[in-house]
Order: sequence, then C-alpha cells, then structure tokens
Amino acid sequence: MPQSDLPKLVVLISGTGSNLKAILDACASGELPATVAAVISNKSDAYGLERARQAGVPAVVLEKSKEQDRRAYDAGLAETVAAYRPDWVVLAGWMRILTSAFLDRFPDRVINLHPALPGTFPGTHAIERAYEAWQNGEIEKTGVMVHLVPDEGVDVGPVLGFEEICFQSGESIEQFENRVHKLEHELLVRTIKTVLNTTPINRGQADTKEHEGKPL
Ligand code: GAR
Repeated sequence: MPQSDLPKLVVLISGTGSNLKAILDACASGELPATVAAVISNKSDAYGLERARQAGVPAVVLEKSKEQDRRAYDAGLAETVAAYRPDWVVLAGWMRILTSAFLDRFPDRVINLHPALPGTFPGTHAIERAYEAWQNGEIEKTGVMVHLVPDEGVDVGPVLGFEEICFQSGESIEQFENRVHKLEHELLVRTIKTVLNTTPINRGQADTKEHEGKPL
C-alpha cells in the first residue's frame, strides 16, 4: 500500500515517549500498517519529541499558557491535530485530561493507554501506586489497558484491550516498571492494529475550523 494510503495516526505525548517509539518502530517495520502524521507534546522538554524528529515525523509543542482556560487550550489543540487529518488520535503518555472541546472533534477516534487494569489506579503514577498496593498485601496483580476516550473521565472508557501482569516476589519497582512498559508497548501496537483492521478509515473528521460543531 502506498504510504499516503495508510491510516494516519497523530500521537499525543507528555514525556519519554517509549510507547511512541513502539508505534514508530512498528510502523517502520510494517508490523503496524499505519503512518504517524505528527507527534504533539504539551511539554517542550518531552524526550518523545526527539524520537519523532529522529523518525522524520513532525514534532509539535503546544504548551498551555497560565492565562488560557482548559477548553480554549483544547480547542487549539484540536485544530492543530485536525490539520494532520488523522484517522486516529493516540494518547501515549499524554498527561492532561481532555475536555469535550477536543474530544467532540474526534468522536470514537481517541485511544488512551493506561498502565493499570480497567477501573483501577486512574491518573498519574499508576505503576508506583499498584506496586505499593502489592507491597501492602492489597493486590496480587495489575495490568495495562487501552481504551477509547469518550469524555472527561480519567483513564476510563470502552476497553479495547488489556493484559494482566502478576507481581514477582522480590522484584524492585524498577524491575516491575520495566516489565509493565514492555507489556504496554506490545499491547498498544497490537490494539491499534486490531482497531485499524476492524474500523473503517475516517480521515479528516472535523478537519477545518468551519466544521466545528457541525456534522460533516
Ligand atoms: C506510560 O506508562 C503510560 O501508560 C502512562 O504514561 C507512561 C508514558 O510513558 N500513561 C498514563 O499514566 C495515563 N494515565 P512513555 O512516555 O515512555 O510512553
């Protein structure tokens, strides 16, 4: 398939971008029949931006100013994302809650990755909190999940895929964290692949400002 016919992803990040790398590598090897049209970060020092540049993918920084309210920021973000005419928007370590000012532009097209099982440890530091809960004897396993983002709920929405991961006695938080990351890299690529295979392309939804709020 010519590169231009492949489904387009826009990936939103806030940090290291190891999951972004998994996506970029899978696209480059052909394992994931898609192309990353752009990587957008709300943090200018996110290392994932460098990974995007190295892969020849546009790397865009869009930081929220103090004066800007959340909806205004999200509307601008949606405009930036829509300009790349994505079929899917992937939140890979994106650490901001998106309002409907963003989500309404890409209905059923925003995918989030979270390092915990559905319904558990929403928000930041999920891996550390799960590890602590295990040390306190409260849980024996945790996991990673990928879900659609329908609304402003934190790390919640229709589940597209998840994997459990059991704690191993004596392992350090660093060892555990590495296992979680390895698993989420696999799950994210696998889930995007499944979604691409089962959902028709929907390029350019709400791709210009004049479409805002109107059905296309
Ligand atoms: C990943 O562990 C991802 O699951 C998590 O942020 C990390 C980003 O790592 N996301 C959340 O916690 C969302 N609530 P990365 O920048 O190396 O891909």
